[in-house]
Amino acid sequence: LPLGCKAHRGTVLHFLEDPGNEPEPAAGSVAFFEDGLLIEHHGKVLVAGDASAWLHQLPEGTEVTHWKDQLILPGFIDTHAHMPQLGVMASYGAQLLDWLETYTFPHEARFSDMDWARTEANRFTDLLLRYGTTSGLVFCTSHPESVHALFEAGEQQGMALTAGKAMMDRHAPENLKDTAQSSYDDSLSLLETWHKRGRQRYAITPRFAATSTPEQLSLAGKLAAEHPDVMVQTHWAENTGEIQWIRELFPERSSYLDVYDHYGLLGDHTVLAHGIHIDDVDRKRLSETGTRIAFCPTSNTFLGSGLLDFREAREAGVSVGLASDVGGGTSLSMLTTMAEAYKVCRLRGQTLTPWQAFYLATLGNARVLHQDQQTGSFQSGRFADFVVLDPSGTPQLAMKQEFTHTLFETLFNLMILGDDRAITASIVAGELRHQAAGTDAATTY
Ligand code: GUN
Ligand code: ZN
Repeated sequence: LPLGCKAHRGTVLHFLEDPGNEPEPAAGSVAFFEDGLLIEHHGKVLVAGDASAWLHQLPEGTEVTHWKDQLILPGFIDTHAHMPQLGVMASYGAQLLDWLETYTFPHEARFSDMDWARTEANRFTDLLLRYGTTSGLVFCTSHPESVHALFEAGEQQGMALTAGKAMMDRHAPENLKDTAQSSYDDSLSLLETWHKRGRQRYAITPRFAATSTPEQLSLAGKLAAEHPDVMVQTHWAENTGEIQWIRELFPERSSYLDVYDHYGLLGDHTVLAHGIHIDDVDRKRLSETGTRIAFCPTSNTFLGSGLLDFREAREAGVSVGLASDVGGGTSLSMLTTMAEAYKVCRLRGQTLTPWQAFYLATLGNARVLHQDQQTGSFQSGRFADFVVLDPSGTPQLAMKQEFTHTLFETLFNLMILGDDRAITASIVAGELRHQAAGTDAATTY
């Protein structure tokens, strides 16, 4: 081990493969070290293993932070959230289309102001870290200012963010609308500035088919074809009123998915948020193109959008990520998001094991974003992005923990009862970026 490496001691858990959705995780999918050690050097993971095997190998004087009685997991990843919608959360009594018009569009209009964009971008990354999220795929507004502000904040925190300017040239207020050509030009310029600058990645971001003319969708597809390693993100099949409107706007297309397909916007670098009201033809096309779905359960229940059929998607071979969709979603917490995903599955007569839920929030989501060589697990060479979780971090968790005997139960308690009080610390590329007030870690040398 090199001089200058650092170690974190605690109960270390990460996934090497999809554990499946059965009570027992698939063989070899989970790596677990009850008294574990995570060793990092220059922000990258060297080793995740047993403390007994590795402590005595550390060079003399190595800093060891002991997170006593805490779980150390890869930092959470959010596959769909809106930076400019923190102020839209908890907007009363609307479904998607009136929610957009009444609350969301007026709020997003403020982001042409660079100072406001910076304020909100900093709040957004601070909150993500408070909830243990170290990476994500994020919508900004149509204003390039909002994209610069978010990437600057991400860069400052060392986080790997993938984000883009919302392209929207119709059915929106003037202060949000771009044009097909300006959206192409602005997206290209932002892409050239930010894509692969450090850990930042650009995402081509047509908002959804209803706010883009065919010309704009066609230019978005052109940009995607010109930059095949750049992610594409949009919304799809969230709300029945939305779907009816898309049918009217694109009568020549066979389905909502066919609209995106026609304009070259499907593929293994595309993440479609929601994908609730879909059929077997859609699932087959998603699977054969490698197109991903971001499952946004707190948004889908809050806006009354519907219940994603998680099992059907999995069985059809569709790659599904887990996401907050703040501000349609009601929490940036991936723990709360897991709890809501579990409830959505239960309402469909299905289940979501804690193995699958924690896999999704870490390695699964990293794979959805093509970031699994960089983050999402503790395999050596990944960035040392991790969250320290306290299984007794709230009074309820502490009480429940007395009656808890297995790792399965501990993880389930955390996802159902946990919130930001269960997040002891967030570390990004080896740097401590958030630590809950009143918590302590013993550092020795
Ligand atoms: N569809 C188009 N825009 C949005 C948005 O901002 N949030 C959600 N949930 N759905 C959308
Ligand atoms: Zn969204």
